[in-house]
Amino acid sequence: MSTKDELLKYLKESDGVWASGESLAAALMISRSAVWKHIKALQEEGYGIESSSKRGYALRNLPDRLLPAEIREGLETVCFGREKIEYYAETDSTNLRARALAHEGAPEGTIVVAETQTQGRGRRGRTWFSPPGCGIYVSVILRPRVQPHEAPQLTLLTAVAMAETLLERADLPFAIKWPNDILVGGKKISGILTEMALEMDRVDYVVVGLGLNVNTPAEAMAEEIREIATSLRMLTGKIFSRVEILRAFLAKLEHYYALFQDRQFERIRNRWKELSGIIGKQVKIEGLDRAYEGEVVDLDRDGFLILRTSDGAFERIVAGDVLYR
Ligand code: BTN
Repeated sequence: MSTKDELLKYLKESDGVWASGESLAAALMISRSAVWKHIKALQEEGYGIESSSKRGYALRNLPDRLLPAEIREGLETVCFGREKIEYYAETDSTNLRARALAHEGAPEGTIVVAETQTQGRGRRGRTWFSPPGCGIYVSVILRPRVQPHEAPQLTLLTAVAMAETLLERADLPFAIKWPNDILVGGKKISGILTEMALEMDRVDYVVVGLGLNVNTPAEAMAEEIREIATSLRMLTGKIFSRVEILRAFLAKLEHYYALFQDRQFERIRNRWKELSGIIGKQVKIEGLDRAYEGEVVDLDRDGFLILRTSDGAFERIVAGDVLYR
């Protein structure tokens, strides 16, 4: 833990009671001016720390930010977010940052988070609307020991982790829409962008990027997505702790990732089917190069959708957008 994080822990444990500069300096074995330097840095991060020349310092309120020290507090993971959490008040895209880190050798479980993204990226060249402080924009670096064709399973397990996280926080009909969306009443609340890098024929790394609309008010939604997107706040009228949701999501993601590494995709696949409700539905799918229509009969082991068309033929679909009929 860094000295700044230790200082923060100390102030949190003081529970709003004044702690003198002298006592903090002694506890952390640093000078009083070093205490002051770290206090300034914490204040700049948004921590409401009151200071008094006579009484010292007291923590009054926590920032509503996805700061690494806040994410780590009470984080129930073994690997994800343990070693490195890279935080940006603003960045182009957390997936791009995570890919750069992975390329430099960042270990599995490295997390990149941002308060806002200027080039939030979605599937098929789309953008992900990322207003500041309203949502969770996070990317996780994975280094799975699998063949490239198995990597799409990671998108499915991420969707399962997110759907469960949401279901535990709001009594709403969250459903997974193949392959990577979470919808409520037909409106999108979360999306996943999985990107992978190969080395010869093996996976070097995978970056799983997730966007979730948490506290976005209706009026802040971009005009072009107002009819098709929603947020937890719009659905419930409540404000949610983004840090708490992110921690819970990371713990679930790690759990399902361990199953995946343990060759237990079948369990994930079954959970995905339950949470998607797509099996047996009539759909139209805009695939990469053509459209398909028919009944969804299964999700296969590689995460592909199996469709039975009206002439009885079976189609195995790799990627596309689903439109329910
Ligand atoms: C989609 O629904 O098309 C996928 C959206 C994925 C958005 C997230 S936000 C965090 C991460 N960084 C990005 O640039 N994109 C993903």
